[in-house]
Amino acid sequence: MRSDPEPINLFEYEALAREQLAPMAYDYYASGAHDEVTLRENRAAFDHIRLRYRVLVDVSRRDLSTTVLGEPLSMPVLVGPTAFHRMAHPDGEVATARAARRAGTLMVLSTLSNSSVEEVTAAAPGPLWFQLYVYRDRGATRALVERVEAAGCRALVLTVDAPLLGRREMDVRNRFHLPPGLRIENLAGMGFGELPTEVADSGLAAYFAALLDPSLTWADVDWLCAATRLPVVIKGVVRGDDASRAIDHGVAAVIVSNHGGRQLDTSPPTIEALPEVVDAVGGQMEVLMDGGIRRGTDVVKAIGLGAKAVLLGRPALWGLAVAGEQGVSRVLELLRQEIDLAMALCGCTSPGAIQRDLIDRR
Ligand code: GLV
Repeated sequence: MRSDPEPINLFEYEALAREQLAPMAYDYYASGAHDEVTLRENRAAFDHIRLRYRVLVDVSRRDLSTTVLGEPLSMPVLVGPTAFHRMAHPDGEVATARAARRAGTLMVLSTLSNSSVEEVTAAAPGPLWFQLYVYRDRGATRALVERVEAAGCRALVLTVDAPLLGRREMDVRNRFHLPPGLRIENLAGMGFGELPTEVADSGLAAYFAALLDPSLTWADVDWLCAATRLPVVIKGVVRGDDASRAIDHGVAAVIVSNHGGRQLDTSPPTIEALPEVVDAVGGQMEVLMDGGIRRGTDVVKAIGLGAKAVLLGRPALWGLAVAGEQGVSRVLELLRQEIDLAMALCGCTSPGAIQRDLIDRR
């Protein structure tokens, strides 16, 4: 494994980021729940899928662009929501959002960001989506949704796989807390901006248990859809029947996700869950996926199995840790080049040409 300053793939970005990050921050970003079975399998499942490429197709002109919920993207990749970007770099979420924009895509800003939604939209103009956690305090949640709308975000991504925080044992050992000076800026004005520092295990788990609403049901999805004029996307679905219910409840899109293996360990790898969800939805809404994407071929496999686009989580953080905005840009460009090459070698000139016949899951 190389560890010089010019990584040539996303794995090398992680290796370099690990050298540069405080151990508590690296462990928080990198770890999964319990035995990390799902974390590993999210990645490994891609390696077990074969690409049945087609030959003698003119691929001299290729176009990676697509749309998601009507938003034009230069490639089928969004930057997914991850928390606490200023643990990785002082420019934090602003740098990540700018790099996403520069790459012609968009970022989903986490509720748990170290820069407020207003700060990010002001410093990184362009489309932004917002990932929402629902707090027990519905007034605070509603106020946050209103701010997100006023700041110009274009969609709300409701995370539905985290009624409680998964037990990430590295965070337990480290008694995870935020470094001094960092807060959950979106909630700071409402009194929920601080993570506890004196805890027996993870400060974030304690924060979730105290403040986030574990009673969330489909009725709350209805509540949210009625409370906002933005499209609501739900993130964290791994079953076809849940995806079908999402359609009935007015949801605009689903993200097949297991929270990067950070919630329920031994839940299915997302690339394996994807076809069931796509089949259940039957084209009635867009399906996105995340989890384990590290190579251009992974993106082609996800598109081939029916995802409109994928979300990139940890690798954006590795780029941010290594070189701020430039690092995130480089990660996105490396992935773009790999997608372009994989498409060409598969005989596909656009994401729309990537179909299920390319995929061999045996
Ligand atoms: C937050 O959403 C986390 O997964 O740590």
